[in-house]
Amino acid sequence: MKAAFLHDIGHYTWYGEDGEWNFHSYKENDIHAIKGAERAHKLLIRLGEDRKSAKEIALAILLHTDSYLPSGDLQLTPLQMVVSQADEANEEPDGLHHYRMIDEKEALQRIRDLDELVQQTSKAYEKQSS
Ligand SMILES: [Fe+2]
Repeated sequence: MKAAFLHDIGHYTWYGEDGEWNFHSYKENDIHAIKGAERAHKLLIRLGEDRKSAKEIALAILLHTDSYLPSGDLQLTPLQMVVSQADEANEEPDGLHHYRMIDEKEALQRIRDLDELVQQTSKAYEKQSS
């Protein structure tokens, strides 16, 4: 989850000289999901994540949106579907969600809350499967 937070870096560079988002240029040239997947994979490996899981997570980030991909149907796995839906969950018109400001303390608290949720879910899952 933390790895996914980094994926949108580089997403804001597709404005034309008129200041409007250039969807054509974005669709043609954007590779933010590729860079994000690579960044996430590197981070996960450094943190000691299992290599198979690290690849699955990186793939889910790679496929979190089809907005930069050539047309075609993707058959998403359940993990890829969840990541894709999470990416769309807080979207705002005209990509305004990319510019939402958040207090640093609030951001840190939200990450800690997410950590707590992940740990609780992991423990519950481990308990269930033992
Ligand atoms: Fe994205």
